Amino acid sequence: MTVQTVTEMRRVALLAIVMMVMCACSGSTSATIPGPQTIPDIGTYPPLPNDAPPGASASATATAAAIGRGVNFGNMLEAPTEGAWGLIVTDDFIDKAAAAGFTSVRLPVRWSNHASVEAPYTIDEAFMARVESVVDKLLAKGFVVIVNMHHYRQLDGDPQDAGELAVTNGAIDVRFVMLWDQLASRLKGRSAKLVFELYNEPHGRLNGEPWNVLAARALRVVRKTNADRAVVIGPTSWNSAGDLPLLRMPNDANLIATVHNYNPFRFTHQGAEWVSPLLPVGVSCCSAAQEAEMTAPLDAAKAWSTAKRYPVFVGEFGAYSKADDASRIEFNRKMRQAMESRGMSWTYWEFAAGFGVYDPVKLTVRQGLLASLLDR
Ligand code: BGC
Repeated sequence: MTVQTVTEMRRVALLAIVMMVMCACSGSTSATIPGPQTIPDIGTYPPLPNDAPPGASASATATAAAIGRGVNFGNMLEAPTEGAWGLIVTDDFIDKAAAAGFTSVRLPVRWSNHASVEAPYTIDEAFMARVESVVDKLLAKGFVVIVNMHHYRQLDGDPQDAGELAVTNGAIDVRFVMLWDQLASRLKGRSAKLVFELYNEPHGRLNGEPWNVLAARALRVVRKTNADRAVVIGPTSWNSAGDLPLLRMPNDANLIATVHNYNPFRFTHQGAEWVSPLLPVGVSCCSAAQEAEMTAPLDAAKAWSTAKRYPVFVGEFGAYSKADDASRIEFNRKMRQAMESRGMSWTYWEFAAGFGVYDPVKLTVRQGLLASLLDR
């Protein structure tokens, strides 16, 4: 399967998630706040230039390496509201992830659902404080913490989840930049172990140059308050390695690039309810052909990294629980080996939901899966 095919399947898969959530909550619809409003001019947030990216600084390279072997706290703070997808961030999760030996936590956050739809798009204080407290607990445990912006549906031009508020089209991009202005300012001053990731899996209306420009605008506002912090930027088409040639890093040394890798998609997403049409179960892993699918994007990412002199970390990979355990374990082992032999840190998707290495009901780790990721 080509990278392009996988990219397309990811697109269809994520669209299906949106449709499912909308259907599940029929009756509630997204709402646009009407009425006159003054939309700040996006021109007041000029992009950093991206004509001469210098390559990564020693500290960004060290931070990328320190991400090491990490895990996503997925289905928690990027749900429409925390808990809506069955999980909240608990102290138990933080303790168990640390005890297991993960060195980093990627924290997906849906900021867009917790901010005003009118300028200055103020982030809800209770939500901001909640994320801040989770970040500080994770940092206190010694993790490298990657805080991102996740599932800002309008930014990609996707239909919104039920109940989400919408801004008028002209406000979408400036709201994204102004959200970053706020959260970067609020989270400033932490140790270098706190990393910002500008946006998860940009796609749709962001594909190609629009994302390069918007990322460079957001980075400039982040730099007002976080001059040296490592910031992660990934390519379009869902952080596909195939889109790395389109990615233009801003002229900034404290950057890390990221890609996601769910190849072979027919294995990793078999039986996944959010993929339409549903992929048949019973697909095992990993044949030589499947392994080639897994490693091709990593080779592309490695070549890009060498040419551009920015480290690449793999922010998401994993196989859904409908696959057989032996194959999931084999997949994880092979992926880990493939990433690490190419010098890439990674964060597994994810901790305690459908791909999870932790059983949130029994409060125990899934030993085989965990060992496939962390045994030395
Ligand atoms: C999405 C999740 C999805 C996962 C695997 C992530 O990027 O945010 O909603 O479950 O990919 O498909």
